[in-house]
Parts: sequence; C-alpha cells; structure tokens
Amino acid sequence: SYGQTSIIMDAKGSDQQISRHIYGHFAEHLGRSIYGGFYVGEDNTKIPHVNGVRKDVIAALKNLNIPNLRWPGGCFADTYHWKDGIGPKDQRPTIVNTWWGGVTENNSFGTHDFLNLCEVLETEPYLAGNVGSGSVQEMMDWVQYTNSKEGNPMSKLRQENGRAEPWQVKYWGIGNEPWGCGGNMDAEFYANFYKQYATYMAEGYLEGGIYRIASGPAGDDYNWTEVLMKKIPLSLMEGIALHHYAVTDWDAKGPSTTFDEKQYFGTMRQALLMNELVEKHSAVMDKYDPEKKIGLVVDEWGGWYEVEPGTNPGFLYQQNTMRDAMIAGATLNIFNNHSDRVRMANLAQTVNVLQAVILTDEEKMLLTPTYHVMEMYKVHQDATLLPLQVKSAEYQLGDDKLQAVWTSASRNKQGVTHISLVNVHASKAQEISIDIKGASYKKLSGRILRSRNLQDYNTFENPNLITPKAFKDAKLRGNTLSLKVPPFSVVVLALE
Ligand code: AHR
Repeated sequence: SYGQTSIIMDAKGSDQQISRHIYGHFAEHLGRSIYGGFYVGEDNTKIPHVNGVRKDVIAALKNLNIPNLRWPGGCFADTYHWKDGIGPKDQRPTIVNTWWGGVTENNSFGTHDFLNLCEVLETEPYLAGNVGSGSVQEMMDWVQYTNSKEGNPMSKLRQENGRAEPWQVKYWGIGNEPWGCGGNMDAEFYANFYKQYATYMAEGYLEGGIYRIASGPAGDDYNWTEVLMKKIPLSLMEGIALHHYAVTDWDAKGPSTTFDEKQYFGTMRQALLMNELVEKHSAVMDKYDPEKKIGLVVDEWGGWYEVEPGTNPGFLYQQNTMRDAMIAGATLNIFNNHSDRVRMANLAQTVNVLQAVILTDEEKMLLTPTYHVMEMYKVHQDATLLPLQVKSAEYQLGDDKLQAVWTSASRNKQGVTHISLVNVHASKAQEISIDIKGASYKKLSGRILRSRNLQDYNTFENPNLITPKAFKDAKLRGNTLSLKVPPFSVVVLALE
C-alpha cells in the first residue's frame, strides 16, 4: 500500500530568494579532513594535486558549486593561532591538536593555502576566528592580513609572504561553541566578548563591510539566542550561528552502517527537529529584528555516529548511507523553506569527517549519497522560493510518528521550476499529488537517488552503487502532477 500525500504549489512565486550559501561546507583541522582529505602536500608524487590540494577533490567540489567553505574549525578554531600557518613551511611551529586525536599539526596548511584553495574552488571563504584562546589583536591582524590592500603592518607581511593582493574575506565567525569547547562561557559573558571583537573587526577593509557571525546556541537553547539578540546591537552583527547534529544519544551514537529501523527512526527524528529549531530561533530573532536583517547561520549540521571500527576515535570518520541522504535531503528542504531567515548553512564536514560528501583512501576517492543529494539540489541555489502547502502521510514506528514527505520548490533565473522531495519512510512508497497554482508547464523531467537497502553505501571497491538515475514515475496532466516515490528516496523534478 502507498502513503498518500497532497501538495499545493504556489507557482506564482514569492519575494524570497534561497541563498546559495545554504549549500555551504565545513572543513576543520580534524582527522583526515585537511591532511589526506584536501591536502596531500606539494611534494606528493602519487596523488595528482594543485599546490598540494587533491585534484579529484577540487573537481568534485566544483561540480557541487559549493558557495562557501568554513575553516579551520570547529573546536580547533579556538586553539588556532593563524600566524603559526604563514611563512616558509619548514619554519612553521608544530602544535598538538588537543581536540582531535592528539596528533601533531605541523601547520603546513595555513591561511594562504586555504584562501588560495577557495579561489580555485570559486567559493567564498568563511574564517572562524579564535576567541577562546586568542585575542582581539590577533583577530584584527587576521582581518588586516587577508583584506587590507596596503599600508598596514599585516598587508606588508602578507606581501612579504608572496601575496600581493588581499583575498577579501567577507564571512567571519567570532569563536565557535563558546558554551562548550570554545571557552565554557555563559551567554552574557560571550555577548560582551563578542561586542569587543566585532567592534575592532568592523573596519573590515572590504567594500560593503564584512559579515560577522556570532557563535550561536546548541540545539534548543533559545535563551542563548535571546541573550545575544538583546545584548548585541544589530549594527555589530550580521549573523547568528546554530549547531545541531542528528544524534539520539551522545553516549551511544550507534553505528554508521549496521543500524536497525529503530535507530534510523531516532536519527530522523533528531534531524527533522531542525524544522522546529529554525522556527523557534527565528521567532526569538523576530522580536529584536523584525526586518530580518540578521541571518541565522546553521554552520554545523548533519549525522554523527560511532567511528568506523579500527579508526582513531578522535578522527570522526564514518560511512555514509541512504540514511544520510535522507538527513541531507530533508534538512536542505527545511532550510529552503525558511530562507527568509536561514541565510547560510554548513554541512559537517566536507571530506572524511562526519557526514562527509567525499571519502578518500590514499589515492582513491568516492562520492557519498550525501554528495549526490547536494548535487541534485544545487538547482535551488539563489533561486526564488515557491511556497508549498503539504499534507503529508505519516511514518509510524511503534507509538512514534514522523512526517513522511519533506519537500521544497523554487524557480531559477532561467525560469525552470524545481521540486525536491524526500520520502523518509523506511518501507512505504508515497503517492504524491501536486496541485500547481498560478503557472502551467509543458515539460517534465526528474532524477532519483535510491538504493535497495537503507544501509547501503558507496565503497572504494564499488563507488557507484548509489548515484542519481532518471526518474520516470511522474505524470503531468493539466495542473496536476502525480508521482510515486519509493521508500527512503530523494527525487528532484524539473518543470518548464
Ligand atoms: O564538527 C565536529 C565538532 O562538532 C566541531 O569541532 C564542534 O564545533 C562541534 O562540537
């Protein structure tokens, strides 16, 4: 039997643009994210690279049109002193990466390496500055080093290090998780700290100004948002971050591939909670910023499981199954639908860490199901949101229920409408009918990401087990679109 879902789509459109920055990524100095994942060293003769960065990873990320990349942490950011990572590589100090596995960090991948990589990727860098163990001066210096053209001590130092022109970094995070690894502060204390940093970064050396992002709450800590909004003048802040991972129990996160349906359901409940979190944090922000000037920046999200057996527990290396495709597809739909407030988001993390889009093993590389969802959804970047009214079937397990179908729609600059749909139900296909108001279409095509088992994943031996295929189970009659969407699958339709 099928679940029944009906949708009304307002194809006239809205004045809401889905910022491409919702499709952002995050790369921390953690495990094999930077070293081995992105960067294999200038002297590597086994793996093709540009200035030490893997060519296969660059090509894969370019194909995603990644709009921004957050670096160097995470928790690592509040231990990072950026001056350790500039100048001749053989003279850079080494440090111990205390948060992630206690390994030696030799600082061979630093500010120039990262910002030059962003230029190659044609993506906006998002630098997370050190508040926890850094200083206002250190942060000011970093802004000056990256953005000031000339005439300052830091622009001079940059030029001495071989880079004439500034990189013009717009996005700046002021600390990371100050309620935890970023200093164990309370909201009031952090808000004061934030104001001090934001004041002295304000110069920015950038036309239009820099975009300063305050470290936001974990999950449902609405008080954190309230305190920041109340205490920080809107003139000192452009965004507030939010972190939420789809974890059911931090002490027993469960395996990444051999999970059962109960664990799947639990993960999805946590992932879908994002809808409520975004709405309630936005409501708090609305009280102080009714014109929605300040963006909600969900700069860490995704699934987090136990590491793969035999790997360093501090490296957070996990596999990526159709469960992760469900998290990605549903979460991105939630962000699209709330793009009036959600202006940026960063999946954690790009390569070899948590819900990665890319996994590497020496010279081998694979694209995960999450990668394919991001690739299918890139059509929504900077498109106009089309509002939907959804009456979804339910996904019930025991006494618990979840909404089964998660969807969003947009129209791009070329006039093509895209509808992305996720059926998170583990066993039931959905019959979905979409009533189109305010436009008519002649052409319909679609793609689907699915697999036989929810636990399926791409391996280095079989990297293309899960890839998008043409979707044929949709019919357009007049203004009604009818489709059948299999269990745990992601579909993106194009209408012209
Ligand atoms: O993404 C891994 C870690 O999760 C980040 O370093 C930290 O900000 C969060 O707790």
